[in-house]
Amino acid sequence: MSSLRRSYYNLFSKVYDRIIELHSHDLQGRLRGALADRTGLKAGDVALDICTGTGSVPPFLAEKVGSNGLVIGLDFSSGMLHKAAKKIQDRETKNIVLIQAEAQYLPFKGGTISAVTCSHAFYELKGDVREKAIMEVKRVCRAGGKFCMMEHEVPRKKFIKFLFYVRMLVAGNLGSEALLKQEESFFKGHFSEVKREILQGGNTKVICGLSK
Ligand SMILES: C[S@@+](CC[C@H](N)C(=O)[O-])C[C@H]1O[C@@H](n2cnc3c(N)ncnc32)[C@H](O)[C@@H]1O
Repeated sequence: MSSLRRSYYNLFSKVYDRIIELHSHDLQGRLRGALADRTGLKAGDVALDICTGTGSVPPFLAEKVGSNGLVIGLDFSSGMLHKAAKKIQDRETKNIVLIQAEAQYLPFKGGTISAVTCSHAFYELKGDVREKAIMEVKRVCRAGGKFCMMEHEVPRKKFIKFLFYVRMLVAGNLGSEALLKQEESFFKGHFSEVKREILQGGNTKVICGLSK
C-alpha cells in the first residue's frame, strides 16, 4: 500500500465535503442517488461501495436494501472513514458498516455481494491497482450482480479540462487518460451488458455492467 497516497487522502478528508458542497450544492446528493438507482439493489441485498470516502453514497444504497440488507462502505483512508462514521452515526436504521481496506484486496468471500458501486474514485486508482480492484469486484460480486461507477465526464472547456487532469496528477494517476480513451472496451472486457449514461447536467457519467 502506498502510504503517501493514503496520507494525501487523509489530509484531503478534512476539506473534502466542503469542497464538494461549494462546487456542486445539492447536485452531488442527486447524482449519488442516481447511482444507487442504477444498481438494481432490492430489500435484503448486500451492497459494497468501494473508495467510499466520506460516505456520501452508502445512505442512498441503504435506502435500497432496507433494514434487512447491509451496505458496506470501504476505503483505505482512516481520515475519510472518520468523516463517514460521523455522517452515518445518527441514522435510525443501522444497516451501514464501514471497513478500512484496499479496493484491490477486498476482505470478502466470493459471490457474496449483490452490487458494487464506486463514485468519483475509479480513475484515481493507478493502472495495476485498478486492474486488481476490478478483478476483486468481479470475484466478490454474485453472478448477475452489478458494478456501477460514476465519474466526471472529461470537461470540454479547456481550463476545466486542465483542472480535471490536475486532479488526476495530484491523485497520482495520469495513466487515466489511456483508460478514458478505451473506457467502453475496458468495461466490456470485464462485464456484460455494459451501459454508459450521461446524467442530467451533462458533466457526470455512470457506467454499469453485470458480473459475468
Ligand atoms: C475522490 S474520493 C471519492 C470519495 C467518494 N466515493 C465520493 O464519491 O465522494 C476517492 C476515495 O478513494 C479512496 N481510495 C483511493 N485509493 C484507494 C484504494 N486503493 N483502496 C481503497 N480506497 C481508496 C480515497 O481514500 C478516497 O476516499
